Amino acid sequence: MATKVIDAETILKHAAPITHQHAHEFHPFGHLVKLPIALDEAVCKESVENLNQLVADVMTLRDLYKKHHWQVSGPTFYPLHLLFDKHYEQLNELVDAIAERIQLLGGVSVAMAPDVAETTIIPRPPRGREEVPIQISRLLHAHEIVLKEARTMANLAAEHGDEGTNDLIVTDVIRTNELQVWFVSQHVVATPLVEAS
Ligand SMILES: [Fe+2]
Repeated sequence: MATKVIDAETILKHAAPITHQHAHEFHPFGHLVKLPIALDEAVCKESVENLNQLVADVMTLRDLYKKHHWQVSGPTFYPLHLLFDKHYEQLNELVDAIAERIQLLGGVSVAMAPDVAETTIIPRPPRGREEVPIQISRLLHAHEIVLKEARTMANLAAEHGDEGTNDLIVTDVIRTNELQVWFVSQHVVATPLVEAS
């Protein structure tokens, strides 16, 4: 009986990683793949569209906090440097929760910076550094945009029976953003530092 001899090159071919592969995307953006979650396709579609706008705006607000964490200046540098990063981390968790809800509703979440930039309605800041009151004004404006759309989206989700989306937006997005507005806005209240007025 003849023994089949396999040379080392043939064996090693199976151990090598297959790199530089290409194929068409299997789930294009904007299309829904229905999951068995007992929710109408039309409702899922509406929630996915709304959540994609929301996630793009929360990602932009998150990144605005990181920009300001790096670029902050002045006598309040240290507390603001820390606060801006804390809010960045909290928003980063929100982004993950929103994006994962988009996926479980059968949609595709926006993910990459150029797509986020095309989608967000938060005004683009300059690349350079700005004074603290301007940084804070930008953050508060961005929070207000997020809160306004979040309330509308939460109401729509509740009206159409998507309680999960409503809960995520109210419990996580709205409450987190409201609290962050309080923390940030108090830095532009002109209370005297040394002598009472
Ligand atoms: Fe840092």
